[in-house]
Amino acid sequence: MSTLKLALIGGDGTGPEVTTQAVRALHTVAPKFGITVETADFDYGGRSIARQGVPITDEQVEELRKFDAIFLGAVGLPSIAPGVLEKGLLLKLRFALDLYINLRPVNLYPGVETPLKDKTAKEIDFVVVRENTEDLYTGAGGIHRKGTPFEVATQEMIATAHGCERACRYAFDLATRRERKHLTLVHKTNVLTYCGDLWKRTFDRVAKDYPTVETGYHHVDACCMYMATRPEIYDVIVVPNMFGDIITDLGAAIAGGMGIAASGNLNPNKGAAGMFEPIHGSSPDIAGQNKANPLAACDAMAMLLGETGRKNGDAQMVKAGEAISAAVKRVTPKFTGKRLDRSGYSTTEIGDWVVAELSK
Ligand code: IPM
Ligand code: MG
Repeated sequence: MSTLKLALIGGDGTGPEVTTQAVRALHTVAPKFGITVETADFDYGGRSIARQGVPITDEQVEELRKFDAIFLGAVGLPSIAPGVLEKGLLLKLRFALDLYINLRPVNLYPGVETPLKDKTAKEIDFVVVRENTEDLYTGAGGIHRKGTPFEVATQEMIATAHGCERACRYAFDLATRRERKHLTLVHKTNVLTYCGDLWKRTFDRVAKDYPTVETGYHHVDACCMYMATRPEIYDVIVVPNMFGDIITDLGAAIAGGMGIAASGNLNPNKGAAGMFEPIHGSSPDIAGQNKANPLAACDAMAMLLGETGRKNGDAQMVKAGEAISAAVKRVTPKFTGKRLDRSGYSTTEIGDWVVAELSK
């Protein structure tokens, strides 16, 4: 028997609806693998700004550390200025909890259509390890002489030896666990000669500890081209934060869209809570209408179980994650010939299918 203490942040827009379905899937699968689930709901997002001035306070972040994992539905509301919720909640959690890996698998599921002609599930099967705490995301920089014709804005790209090393090590470890054992570093070393140089030197040094992993390097612009033309060349990609943000949207697109893309914000150290979320946004236009596709949220829950279980040496929890993932793959053929979003299927209907698959 194991216990999973889970913090649930449904967030904004359709976030709470898809979270509900992912939690249903969790409750269905948990008893089969001897897992007791304890959940606590937290109302952080647009509404908490109205209530307390900020999406989440430092004390509230500290409280989240007591959990084994955090599940986040979605954040973002049109009424709130860009950056406020992103910086005040999502990035705050990533940085404060030192969730230094953002893990984003790119897989074509059965029945899901890719915009890439003639590509099959075998050819769209890779995972992006995005560094999650550095780079252009640290907020370093500023505006001087604002509003004058001489205004200067800077936003600094930051790479640290420690940050590059831990991201590379995680990616090499992951590559050793995969069948192909191939890892590509993606950067822009021909222009970003300082940050790129540190990344490349670190990558090459760490590679020496992983002789079974074959390595490669691509510039980020070329990587975009290859993802759209020859995605089969990728197995694991390690990439800094900003480029990782961009290429994982492209990754989601080639795998059939945001409807299925899941993401894990991880701190691989034992005992540290990871945060798992569907990559999609809060879709305020369809919020509360039972229209959002919860499969990405279900997949994020599968990843939550898999990563939390693996980190804590809990094989049953890993298996529970695999069960949800397999159930999602058995549901996707229902979308054959349809889009994943705006499919006409309701949130609860799709959730029912996942639960039914898990109950078999
Ligand atoms: C993502 C998102 C976030 C990011 C935004 C919402 C801050 O695009 O998770 O990819 O840029 O990391
Ligand atoms: Mg993004």
